[in-house]
Amino acid sequence: MKILMVCLGNICRSPLAEGILRHKVKQAGLNWEIDSAGTGGWHVGEPPHAGSQKIARLKGFDICDLKGRKFKKEDFEYYDKIYVMDSENYQEVKRMAGKYFDENKIDLIMNEVYTGKNMQVPDPWYANTDEAFSEVYDLLDKATDHIIKKYA
Ligand code: 4NP
Repeated sequence: MKILMVCLGNICRSPLAEGILRHKVKQAGLNWEIDSAGTGGWHVGEPPHAGSQKIARLKGFDICDLKGRKFKKEDFEYYDKIYVMDSENYQEVKRMAGKYFDENKIDLIMNEVYTGKNMQVPDPWYANTDEAFSEVYDLLDKATDHIIKKYA
């Protein structure tokens, strides 16, 4: 499996999703490729947000080496599955992908837990509190459990 996690800035939610899934994939001994990207380019080359790094460390893995990058339309060809955090990400990825867009490959990540509910992973960037990052972690922890079970 080749999985891409996408959010707006690629510094809060999607690098955390990437880190959690990488950690679980490694524990499960799976040979999956996992990456993350943002629909915006403001944080290209930057490490994940301090809040995401902190909750990752607390949960027993490290994401400080990850670097922000922007989503590109060719990602649709390369990855088997693309998970977005919210509906805005979905619309933006759809627009950016153009003819490469394939609705069978993309979904809101929480639909893996709550099928068809279109639940959003809230952006912790504005609140910027430990609680906001912890809430994001809990959602992504659940979603990645389901992803592992589904595709392993
Ligand atoms: P993310 O959060 O999409 O979860 O990485 C954000 C990061 C940066 C910005 C917005 C959201 N920003 O406006 O720079």
